[in-house]
Formats: sequence, C-alpha cells, structure tokens
Amino acid sequence: QTGYITLDDGYGNTGSCKSAITFIDGDRGILRYRGIPIEQLAERSNFVETAYLIIYGELPTHDQLRKFSDLLTLNQMLHEDMKFHFEGFPPHAHPMGILSSMINACGCFNPSLFADEEVSQFDLQVAQLISQVRTIAAFSYRKSKGLPIIYPKKAYKYSANFLHMMFSDPYEDYELKVEVVRALDLIFLLHADHEQNCSTSTVRMVASSRANLFASAAAGVCALWGPLHGGANQAVLEMLQEIHQSGDDGSKFIQAAKDKNSGKRLMGFGHRVYKNHDPRAKIIKRQCDILLETLHIKDPLLDIAKKLEEAALGDSYFVERKLYPNVDFYSGIILRALGIPTEMFTVMFAIGRMPGWIANFKEIREEEGSRIYRPRQVYVGPTIRSYTPMEERK
Ligand code: SDX
Repeated sequence: QTGYITLDDGYGNTGSCKSAITFIDGDRGILRYRGIPIEQLAERSNFVETAYLIIYGELPTHDQLRKFSDLLTLNQMLHEDMKFHFEGFPPHAHPMGILSSMINACGCFNPSLFADEEVSQFDLQVAQLISQVRTIAAFSYRKSKGLPIIYPKKAYKYSANFLHMMFSDPYEDYELKVEVVRALDLIFLLHADHEQNCSTSTVRMVASSRANLFASAAAGVCALWGPLHGGANQAVLEMLQEIHQSGDDGSKFIQAAKDKNSGKRLMGFGHRVYKNHDPRAKIIKRQCDILLETLHIKDPLLDIAKKLEEAALGDSYFVERKLYPNVDFYSGIILRALGIPTEMFTVMFAIGRMPGWIANFKEIREEEGSRIYRPRQVYVGPTIRSYTPMEERK
C-alpha cells in the first residue's frame, strides 16, 4: 500500500509509515530534525526557527522567519470568549485535560482577525496552535492558582512571553533572565519532534481520517499525558522527591526498580527506540548544571538523579536491557529551577512537541494517495460458537 513499509527494528517495534521529518538511530543515539543533528540545533538555533524547519522542511530565510514570528505574535491571543471555558474547569483539573479540551475549542473559533490574503488557512492554523498552546497553558496555570490571567506582550519572543504570562503580576513584570529564557527555549526545542512516538502516531492516525488539525493535536495531547510517555517527566520528579524524602541515596530505589514485584520503574530510563544514550538527555543534563550554577541553586534532586544514573549504568540489569536516561530524566530538574509546577511538566512537553505533531499532520495530508490508517490485528479470541440463552448460562 502507498506509504506502508513493514519495519521490524529487532526490538519488537514494527512500524508502518514513511516520514521525512525526523531521523533516529537508536543504537547509535542519533537524532536529526530534517537531517540536521540535534546537537547543532541545540547549540545554534532556537525553538521558533526549529519549529519552522520541522514543519516546512528547511531552515527559514531571514524574511521567512520574520513573517513566521510576526504571525505567531498576531495569533498569540485566544478568542476572548474562550475565557469562559476556563471557568468551567474545577481548580484541581489537570492542565493536560484542560489543554486537550481548549485546543479543540480553538478549532471552533474563527481564524485570526489579523489574517491577510497572503496567509493560507493552514499557515494561520499553524500559527494559532503553536502560539496559543502557550497562552492556554499559562492561563490554565493562573486560573488553577486563583491568579488574574496575564495577557501576552507583542514585544516578547516565544519563550519569554510564556514565562511572562505564567509569572508576571498585573502591577509588576516577571524579571526575564536571559539564561532562564534560553533554558526553557532549549527544552521546547529538544521536544519538538521525535519520529513515530506514541502521541505523534496518534496525531497521524486522527489526521488520516481527515479530521482537522486542532482535533488531531488535541488527540496527541491525550496520548502524551500517559506516565509511560510524556507524563514521565512529572513521574521522574515525583520519584526523585520520594527518594529524597526517604533519605535513600538511590541505591534502595535502584533495587526496587529491578524487582518486577515492586511496581517501581526507574522513571526517565529506557526507551522504545534508543538502546544507547538519548542525545537529548545528554544536552539537558549539561544545561541543568549551567542553569543551576547561573541561578545559584543547589538542588538535591539533581545530585540524586546523577547518583541514580551512575548506579544504573554500572548495574547489569540496566546495561543488559540497554536502559539509559531518556529525555525525561533530567528535564524536570530544569523545569523545577524555572519555577514550573510539577503538574505542568507534561504541558511543557506538549508545547515543545506541537511543531512535530503539525509537521506529521501536514505530511499525511500532503502524501500522494495517503489513506486512512487501519492497523491490522492478529485475532486471538474464541472460534465460532452459538448464542447461549440466559437460562443455560453458568
Ligand atoms: C518518551 O517513543 C518516543 O520517542 C517517546 C519519547 C518522545 O520524545 O516522544 O522519547 C518520550 O516517552 C520517553 C520515555 C518516557 N517514559 C519513561 O521514562 C517511563 C519509564 N520507562 C519505561 O516504562 C520503558 O522503558 C519505556 C516505556 C520507555 C519503554 O518500554 P519498552 O521498550 O517497551 O521496554 P519494556 O517495557 O519492553 O522493558 C524491557 C525490559 C523489561 O524487563 P524484562 O521483562 O526484560 O525483565 O526492561 C525493563 C522491563 O521491565 N524496563 C525497566 C524500565 N524500562 C524497561 N525496568 C526498570 N525501569 C525502567 N524504566
């Protein structure tokens, strides 16, 4: 069938789609967005430029980047009527539930009032999603704390505006430290796409039915929410806090994580594809040291994380199963240093992953002769049998 290649990477992953967006070599720990190594993008690019690369396939020229940034700015406000939706959620509602609902709600409102004839519907929706996912996240945080919502500012760039909407007050703007903005922007960049992970495959599945971009992205948010996927960054922090509060130096927890009956896993370790170091984890770990030193923060959880990594990498259980730190192992340390509450960690992942979801939606919709996804199954249920009347059932 068009676009279908049966793959089996030897680790039980049998894929079934072609894509030109992200390349991963799990054995060698390689990750490239549109052919460019993640290490170079982390060093030299930023989230908005990388989002453009992932969605449109090439690094933008100066003019293309300016137009893209301007479109994000013009579309950063939610339709004012959407504020009423926030009123309907209870204060303890998980922000991922709010995010998936509000993304679908965005799709119900008219395109931006600022559109002009040069901008296609798709480009407008791209700008709305990438820009407003930030606004929704910040508004839901402020509402959950009973704080007045803070509107975005035209003068601020992407990540700075998010921090402003999260932490400013009506009477005093949040102090935007360069290192803090850079650290958050890097987190978003490193999460921007990752081949056919659970949530991206979900977006492709929904997109293949010709559902709209907002519905596809909302489905991606729901898939990302799970603790085995995007929810892992929140689970890692909770694990580190549990270890810290117990006074364990990590060695007891490592033993528990190896014991199938303990119900514990070393969260942030292991990966469906990486059977070597996740290159994102290495970059984030380095950024942890830089940021905490700059902010003069001594976080005991970082020390515990490093001890866990050292212990696991010297333990045959983890080595034999090729379990290494993944993107989630250290990311929570940075988010915690930025003041992001733990319950918002997976929302950060969703903001970062939005360009990848959009690019995969676009790829499906532009693929010549692409058809609705319809995974096949191996039937293992009962063979044919007759209906049993109620009185004969046991
Ligand atoms: C993300 O796909 C993507 O690209 C995802 C992602 C992205 O950017 O989109 O990279 C983001 O989701 C990263 C993963 C975040 N999740 C976690 O950190 C949760 C903890 N990790 C595990 O649950 C697990 O490693 C998975 C889910 C990530 C991967 O699962 P696999 O490859 O299916 O591994 P498995 O469950 O088949 O385990 C193989 C063996 C088992 O032991 P045995 O049965 O062989 O004795 O390894 C063990 C598992 O029990 N194992 C672990 C472990 N992960 C696997 N044991 C302890 N701790 C762990 N974390």
